[in-house]
Amino acid sequence: MARRRLTKALFEFSDRGSEDEVAMRDNRASLDRIKLMPRILNDVSGRDPKITLFGKPQALPLLIGPTGPAGFVWYRGEIALAQAAAKAGIPFTLSSTGNTPMETILAEGGGTQWYQLYVWADVEASLVTVERVRDAGFEALVVTVDSPAANNREFDTRNGAVFPPRVTLQGTIDSLLHPRWLVGTLGRYALAERGMPGFPNVHIPDDFAPEQRKGFLARNDSLTWDFLRRVRDMWPRTLIVKGILHPDDALMAADCGADGIIVSNHAGNTNDAAITPIDALPAVVAAVGDRVTIIIDSGFRRGSDVLKGLALGADAVAVGRATLYGVGAAGEAGATRALEILHAEIHRTMGIMGLTDLQAITRDHVVLPPQIPAFERGLR
Ligand SMILES: Cc1cc2nc3c(=O)[nH]c(=O)nc-3n(C[C@H](O)[C@H](O)[C@H](O)COP(=O)(O)O)c2cc1C
Repeated sequence: MARRRLTKALFEFSDRGSEDEVAMRDNRASLDRIKLMPRILNDVSGRDPKITLFGKPQALPLLIGPTGPAGFVWYRGEIALAQAAAKAGIPFTLSSTGNTPMETILAEGGGTQWYQLYVWADVEASLVTVERVRDAGFEALVVTVDSPAANNREFDTRNGAVFPPRVTLQGTIDSLLHPRWLVGTLGRYALAERGMPGFPNVHIPDDFAPEQRKGFLARNDSLTWDFLRRVRDMWPRTLIVKGILHPDDALMAADCGADGIIVSNHAGNTNDAAITPIDALPAVVAAVGDRVTIIIDSGFRRGSDVLKGLALGADAVAVGRATLYGVGAAGEAGATRALEILHAEIHRTMGIMGLTDLQAITRDHVVLPPQIPAFERGLR
């Protein structure tokens, strides 16, 4: 449904990966290779997929991860996602490149909200954003560390989906062919806000010249662990590091005082040759499973995928595209539907796995392909 409603450029921006999309395909292949080992004749009539994450009970072992274009695919799409997450009883993560002011999303979205930080070339300006996020009251700060260099997303280049946006003949035709998006999203921004969606959650110093503003959204490629220590000193609540695949990096994050990590290859949007998070997970769990909360993402589409992640030691699973497609198709109702589908699948899979409680899931509930050496490191 999202494909039909959105422009080709916007749908492919949401749906496709970097370079040859190998990492994206591998994310699915790695999950598909893992098999579930059910137990039978347990009374599963009272099963409940609730968990506790960072000390807080929540209805499902899920959260909505940060997806930059949510506000482009639907008018104030971030609010729609936050409302859907609140309804489902799970956290929502606002991306640094969200298009609605963070304070408005917090007020209108409700529920548990986290903020994801990209660190731009100007580190001090990024830290001003951290202060704003802290004062606004977000419950967790998610620092994304896996993209110090720009993504090589060739589909976007071909589609003209570039930053800063340019008006092109190709883009105009694409928009005219998708009138529901053109009127319902772009038209609403034009009417209600007298302009196109911008980046109201990024702090750009007032004294920046126009050329500096243009290049501002370049990621910082000189960051080190010192930055994380600095953020730890100024951020009083839950701190999560997103984009870890190596167990030694997980250890470093724990040593820097992170409360949680997200094992992620950014849905295959950054390093197209990266190991998949589910293949990397066992070694990460062996390294820091008893020290930090571990969230996993990238390629999780079914309830059975979620149970595989939990069985291998993750505490929760983040979804990006699943709810982005939902909001792109039908706003809050679409994102809610995506979460309802996942909820129903998790509930059903718990039943056929003989599980009443997700705390009871263990490594014995999955069978791993023995040829993956990463699995042999820590668990076999
Ligand atoms: C279109 C799109 C935009 C994204 N934007 C961000 C972002 O702004 N910040 C971030 O940390 N991760 C971003 N991600 C990565 C997601 O947070 C998450 O890691 C990934 O989407 C999970 O994989 P899945 O989409 O297969 O569920 C984005 C992913 C997609 C698909």
